[in-house]
Amino acid sequence: MGVKRLGLTPLESDMTVAEHQFTGRGTLTETFGLGTDPVPLEPYKSKDFFELEKETIFGRAWLYVCREEEIPAPGSFIVKDILPFGISALITHTKAGRIQAFYNSCPHRGSIVVKAPEGNASRFSCPYHRWTFSNEGDLLGVPDKENFFPTLQKEDCGLAKIATSTWDGFVFINFSKEPEVSLEEFLGPVKDHLAGMYYPGASNPVVYTAVLDANWKVAQDAFIESYHIPHIHKNTIGTTFASKLNPYSRLIGAKPLGAHRTISLFGNADYVVDPNNRVEALGTVGEKAGSTMTASTGEDVERYRNHAAINPDASEHWSMDIHQLFPNFHIDTGPGSFWTHQFWPLTESTCFYEVRFYVNEATTIRERLMQELFIARVGEVVLEDLENLQWTQKGVETSGKAVMHLQDSEVAIRHSMSQIVKWTKSATVKEALA
Ligand code: FES
Ligand SMILES: [Fe+2]
Repeated sequence: MGVKRLGLTPLESDMTVAEHQFTGRGTLTETFGLGTDPVPLEPYKSKDFFELEKETIFGRAWLYVCREEEIPAPGSFIVKDILPFGISALITHTKAGRIQAFYNSCPHRGSIVVKAPEGNASRFSCPYHRWTFSNEGDLLGVPDKENFFPTLQKEDCGLAKIATSTWDGFVFINFSKEPEVSLEEFLGPVKDHLAGMYYPGASNPVVYTAVLDANWKVAQDAFIESYHIPHIHKNTIGTTFASKLNPYSRLIGAKPLGAHRTISLFGNADYVVDPNNRVEALGTVGEKAGSTMTASTGEDVERYRNHAAINPDASEHWSMDIHQLFPNFHIDTGPGSFWTHQFWPLTESTCFYEVRFYVNEATTIRERLMQELFIARVGEVVLEDLENLQWTQKGVETSGKAVMHLQDSEVAIRHSMSQIVKWTKSATVKEALA
């Protein structure tokens, strides 16, 4: 039957894979060991909880900020607003070849030092009184230095550093002065799960951003469950991510990875492109996968797809995987490419959302067309999710109930919330990760 593993409860000998996976006999929630109780709604609307999250989660966790390809050579830099804190971060590729983030604030009287969103510079000159800094953050020059006082010591007046670390091309920062755990320790099992992953098209992102009328977790939750697919995405991926075999688009796999988690979504292996739909036929390469459209046919995609974390169960009913990194970053792996989502809290009821689709530089017209169709399709699907979020948030704030009820395909939400609550209650990061 071509399906390798189920990994939940043992397959009874007379049971077909389809029956086992999609009829509710195997429970994913059980494998997470978090029970089945309803989950509190308060964290999705409480101002106090929002402040607690800022302090205990965003103030202590390693936070993804960019790909190394965004700052590819010594001298390149980007400026990124870290929205929960209103902090401007200057992230540089230093002369020595390191990636280092700084508070983008001048040690003289506090001005923003770099106003450009990105660029290339060996030194930065503050626009206010022209103090200059190397891209290692060291203070190089002070106009009319003689008119200052002996208390001004050059070595004390470099740009303030933000702890920075990289993993497989992903750059992370940490607002603890001295992070309690390294990025490696923080990533834990997710680092092993994705180890050696090849990310096709990593230097070529298509980026969409939006400010949403929803708590960041309301938004994030919409991208880690499949239960809504047949309803919210009825007209786009309703027939490719669900089928008669699995009408409610139940997950085909899910696994906790320390503070993080991964889930695999169902794909309708029997889906056949309507030959009259010339556009879709052009965007498809005969993949038996739920998303049908892929962003690339390049040979390197084979290398990417062979990774053990992509379709980990080697299921013929697979469409894509979602690897969710705590607290607010997702790496999604589909048949021909990867894409990422990130959710930054603004207030208890609003957030900033960014999605990046990474595609190879097209080498043929067909490939270019496939990419355009792929991006248009997934863009359409994302818009369906985003439109719905305001109604979820409004309802959560309206609710006369204190809890929500999660089903098995919503297990990642249960795990995400359990980790969030754990971090808010833990005195130390080590305790939160234990
Ligand atoms: S504030 Fe930067 S040089 Fe004065
Ligand atoms: Fe969705």
